[in-house]
Amino acid sequence: MTRPVVAIDGPAGAGKTTASRALARRLGFAHVDTGAMYRAVGILAEERGVALDDDAALAQLVAGLSFELAEGGERLLVRGAGPVSGTSGRDLSDAIRGPHAGELASRVSTRPAVRERLVALQRDLGAGGGIVMEGRDIGTVVFPDAAAKLFLTADPTERARRRAAELRARGGEVDEQALARDLAQRDQRDQGREHSPLRPAPDAVVLDTTRLTFEAVVDAMERVVRARWMTDPP
Ligand code: DC
Repeated sequence: MTRPVVAIDGPAGAGKTTASRALARRLGFAHVDTGAMYRAVGILAEERGVALDDDAALAQLVAGLSFELAEGGERLLVRGAGPVSGTSGRDLSDAIRGPHAGELASRVSTRPAVRERLVALQRDLGAGGGIVMEGRDIGTVVFPDAAAKLFLTADPTERARRRAAELRARGGEVDEQALARDLAQRDQRDQGREHSPLRPAPDAVVLDTTRLTFEAVVDAMERVVRARWMTDPP
């Protein structure tokens, strides 16, 4: 049976990345964090002095980029991104973490030129199936025919708390109030934008993770995927 594409969407801080990674591991699938791709574009635009609303310059920037996943999707290598070691792409996995890259990503992701190119690259990455892809528009735009779709949410306070814990674990300084404000702003931008706004696909299973343990979240996701995969083979 062909291995399906699993689409995971939801707002910032709902636990998508860690849960998707764990789910992919359980299923033996690759994991694609599409937020990482928007973050990489944001970082590169800043590095090259491209204004985040300059569509022509952004289009030129993304046209020259391609992405490669290493270590089952845990590292993001970007080709066409400047200093390259050997024949592989530049590893931006560390540079894209942190709130500044998130802010840049949230802004470049409103631009249609950026979305168009990244969506095309994401479709290529998922073309063979056997992939858990997470983002904001995976079930609605990138893979509307995905075999299984989940939409992860959590209360804003809980999402801010989780983001703070994640940043602290990476050794960063955290201002929780600023973080909560930043999340609220990103929610607004992600949901209110004209192109591919964040919303659950009509056939997505919505999972509120506020009161669930991490294990319970991944268990619930796995149940949905296995049920859909078994009853609705592609
Ligand atoms: O999931 P994240 O925090 O890494 O995402 C960073 C930003 O990228 C977020 O503000 C929304 C945007 N994004 C998007 O518009 N579409 C996606 N498929 C993934 C992320």
